[in-house]
Amino acid sequence: MTSFGFGRELVDHADGAYLYLRDGRRVLDFTGGVGVLNHGHNHPRIMAARRRFAERRRMEVHKTYFSPYVAALAHNLAEVLPGDLNMSFLPNSGAEAVEGAVKLAYKYHGGRRNTILRADISFHGKLLGSGSLTGGAQNHFAFPGIPGVVSFSYGDLDSVRAAVAAHPNDVYAILIEPFSASTMRWCSEEFLRGLRELCTEQNIVLVFDEIYTGWGKTGSLFYFMRYPGLLPDVLTTSKSFGGGKSSISAYVAREPVFRRAYDSPIDALLHSTSTTYYGFGEECATAIEAINIAVDDDYPAQARRIERLLAPGLRRIAKQHPEAVADVTGSGALWGVFVDGGPRVLDLAAKLAPAGLARDPLLRTKLITAAVISALYRDHDIYTYYTLNGRSPLVVGPPLVASDTDVEYFLDSLETVLDQGLTRLLTRFVAQKVGSLW
Ligand SMILES: Cc1ncc(COP(=O)(O)O)c(C=O)c1O
Repeated sequence: MTSFGFGRELVDHADGAYLYLRDGRRVLDFTGGVGVLNHGHNHPRIMAARRRFAERRRMEVHKTYFSPYVAALAHNLAEVLPGDLNMSFLPNSGAEAVEGAVKLAYKYHGGRRNTILRADISFHGKLLGSGSLTGGAQNHFAFPGIPGVVSFSYGDLDSVRAAVAAHPNDVYAILIEPFSASTMRWCSEEFLRGLRELCTEQNIVLVFDEIYTGWGKTGSLFYFMRYPGLLPDVLTTSKSFGGGKSSISAYVAREPVFRRAYDSPIDALLHSTSTTYYGFGEECATAIEAINIAVDDDYPAQARRIERLLAPGLRRIAKQHPEAVADVTGSGALWGVFVDGGPRVLDLAAKLAPAGLARDPLLRTKLITAAVISALYRDHDIYTYYTLNGRSPLVVGPPLVASDTDVEYFLDSLETVLDQGLTRLLTRFVAQKVGSLW
């Protein structure tokens, strides 16, 4: 964290798209809380919902009482999601939602199938199960995991077909991010519909992981919803589902899939994910309000508004700086800037880095991208990040409450930063940071 200026600074408070530091600076937060802050920091309606809940001393912990908050939240999820995606479980984190979905798929097949497919670039979390389902490069240490995990090439239907054919009648689930927020790649409509067809034909449970991309971020409520009639068997969501205030996630199953897996007295409690905090009242009330806001303020339309400024702006900057920007890709309010190039001396620097770092083929990219992030922060009070997956893009992911002026300020600032040239940016960054980095 201390590789960047922001690692050492203290935030006094946060509001909407802004952080207010103890030293008086105001910082524009374009990380979007890494998917958590579609609503921005401390959204007034979210704060009011939580205050109301607390002031009325509502029931927080219910256990075996009927919880109107769990019921209402599950009902509302079923209302906003298409088809018969009607049955929700409400754990606390994304990884738990993924693992719940996978267990449900396994139970759906009564334990008779033992293979699960995941994409080569996937990110699904860091617990033992979800970590073993993560195929991306950042997963470089082999913790024990669930058995039977097989990779396919992201977006390549032939690769999925080959993996299914290699494990006849044994694949219980296919897990995929329709839009991969850690690599800024996405599946084509043809691929997603083909996958749906294959899963239906082979009775494989299709799980869409939209933990990052839900609640409007990419320009539709969920990424898959831009394609009418397309339906996973289970959907996972988290992050902005909690309105930036509550740590809650959900996996939502199609009704027949849920019923076959758990709908009997003996199986009903086989999986209840985090019995300790499951369905806490205020967390559910917060998520209910988070959904209300996403619908009332049309968050998909807000993301498309941001895209209308961001997409042409980023493309123009990439064109003006071909020596620094290899590519820009994204959708809605979630874009990646692939910073590349820079002085050749960096190759030498990468070679001289300690063994662990020197093995990283993206060290050079990461250094240059970090230099851009650092300059955006120091010179323009803008907070961004880069991912550790795929080609490590700099992520431009503003909260959906960011104004047009915020987006224009970001674009002007990025242009000014790149105008300095990568050599200058790097020299400055390395001079500041070489000690703490290496
Ligand atoms: C697509 C996706 N799946 C799963 C997860 C894991 O969620 P969590 O960090 O809440 O366990 C994330 C988190 O970034 C994610 O982006």
